[in-house]
Amino acid sequence: MSVQKPVRRVTAPDITARKGGEPIVSLTAYHAHTAALADEHVDFLLVGDSLGMVMHGFESTLPVPLDYMIMHGRAVMRGAKRALIVVDMPFGSYEESPSQAFRNAARVIKETECGAIKLEGGARMAETIHYLTERGIPVMAHIGLTPQSFNVMGGFKTQGRTRDQWQVLEDDAVAVTQAGAFSCVLEAIAEPLAAKITKAIPIPTIGIGASAQCDGQILVMEDMLGLSPRVPKFVKEFGNIGTAIEGAIKAYSSEVRARNFPADEHTYEVKD
Ligand code: KIV
Repeated sequence: MSVQKPVRRVTAPDITARKGGEPIVSLTAYHAHTAALADEHVDFLLVGDSLGMVMHGFESTLPVPLDYMIMHGRAVMRGAKRALIVVDMPFGSYEESPSQAFRNAARVIKETECGAIKLEGGARMAETIHYLTERGIPVMAHIGLTPQSFNVMGGFKTQGRTRDQWQVLEDDAVAVTQAGAFSCVLEAIAEPLAAKITKAIPIPTIGIGASAQCDGQILVMEDMLGLSPRVPKFVKEFGNIGTAIEGAIKAYSSEVRARNFPADEHTYEVKD
């Protein structure tokens, strides 16, 4: 009789220990089957609030409710057995106070059993990051372009394109590190600044539209699969799934219309 060894799930400290080592591979995931496909090939999966646009057709991440994050977090946990699962805190669920953040992050951890949460913001979120990590919740920070603040930023703008913006971003990276974040997403940050921050802080940086020098990379899975109608400049499409899906649907539709489907091999006979 073969006894299957339980799979050990990657933890937040495992990710921290990868600083300066083998690059950390990650993707977003919102759905059990794609999470299962990705599980063997990534170190962590992020249930990003980008699911608002990708799965639910919102124009931004701002309308995403906490309940959606929990529902998709549970699906991804069921699909992936090995990768660390990180769930994003959506807009309005953590910014008010450290205790609001703890209450909602604890719900995410209890109801999904994920291993960590992510929240947006640098120095201004340091007190909250400290409060959560002190109380048992591993936090991934997210600085640079923080999409939940696009109304304040005046759009989805690359950060650090001029050197006078660098100090604030460097201070953000140091602040979230000192507060106890186990890693930090650097989104849409000019390449040399992302590389400089990566050298300066002792926790892994996870780049998205940042630098190959980051300790790891993340992309929105549907963007890199070629399933999203519009993608930012920094996305490389590694697949062409949108075209493949449309081709399969067209083929199915024409077989149904021609009464060629279901053919004999897809029907059941009567057993006399
Ligand atoms: O919500 C998300 O998908 C993210 C990643 C793009 C980092 O925050």
